Amino acid sequence: MQGHLSLDVVAGADDRRHALCNDVRAGLSGHPKQIPPAWFYDEAGSLLFEEITRLPEYYPTRAERSILACRATDIASAARADTLVEIGSGTSEKTRLLLDAMAAAGTLERIVVFDISRDVLVDAGKGLAGRYNVDVHAVVGDFCHHLASVPRGGRRLWAFLGGTIGNLLPLERAELLAAFRTQMEPGDHLLLGTDLVKDEDRLVAAYDDAAGVTAEFNRNVLAVLNRELGASFDPSLFDHRALWNAREAWIEMHLRSRLAHKVVVADLDLTVCLEEGEEILTEISAKFTAEQVSDELVAAGFVPLDTWRDANGDFQLTLAAPSVLPRRMGQ
Ligand code: SAH
Ligand code: TRP
Repeated sequence: MQGHLSLDVVAGADDRRHALCNDVRAGLSGHPKQIPPAWFYDEAGSLLFEEITRLPEYYPTRAERSILACRATDIASAARADTLVEIGSGTSEKTRLLLDAMAAAGTLERIVVFDISRDVLVDAGKGLAGRYNVDVHAVVGDFCHHLASVPRGGRRLWAFLGGTIGNLLPLERAELLAAFRTQMEPGDHLLLGTDLVKDEDRLVAAYDDAAGVTAEFNRNVLAVLNRELGASFDPSLFDHRALWNAREAWIEMHLRSRLAHKVVVADLDLTVCLEEGEEILTEISAKFTAEQVSDELVAAGFVPLDTWRDANGDFQLTLAAPSVLPRRMGQ
């Protein structure tokens, strides 16, 4: 038996291109330079990310999977959901642990997967439809803009895993959590995966692995700009840098230009002048304390219900419900 897969493209090729043009023009014209992280995940980037999740230094995926392996049944019985909505779903590999628990409890009726990366989403959707005999609804969209396109109805468990929330700036993060809250209906739950603050050496190693896969992943964003916008980046002229920003409690990923040079972005009619040693910020990955996760959820209009950690205390899952009270003033 096989479930039915439907595909809904909210962010089409034109919208994506428009957003990419705006992001690159804004990010590479001034100082400091930056490229937003959503552009990492083309097909090559998604494959490299999968490789990252298997690296010995990259603990978050394994830690989150081990929590799900131990706790999926508890999570499923607390949420009693008939629909799993996964945002930023990627391959949805770990999510199967949750889906298996929901299927075993006999409640699973529908799966919604939502991601900006169409190819990975379609593959994942096919895999899920082949494994679970329920409707699988795949939505290609940007979670910062298109959450209203998540299908309504049923009792939904919204999963936002992988610590992806940490890839947003604090203000964007607050906006995204508030947008989740706005879309959620009574009876829905949110399952949020957050990486926790820990020893700096382990954090930096997780984003600067010995095999150089993360470096390749980081440089791949330049290949995306070359292909999509006719840019002339030579990725070999950039060093990957990962550093722990203790004040902000986040890992920063940069691409550092080895020498002064110019890059042309043909489709934008833009010439980018890079100095020797100049860095382009490509990603942050914020790390949390348990208290901070709880505070941010409360500020966005949620009630945290339960938290689970892996045996090493590296990673945390939090289950929360929309609060019935109005959000705090000024939040
Ligand atoms: N949830 C998976 C994948 C994490 S990688 C895991 O835990 O392993 C981050 C995922 O979020 C990628 O699949 C990427 O395509 C997606 N993503 C990043 N920015 C996005 C955005 N703005 N809107 C929708 N999806 C996004
Ligand atoms: N959500 C992942 C994280 O913050 C994404 C990620 C892992 C990543 N390694 C990366 C993003 C390297 C850019 C570069 O852990």
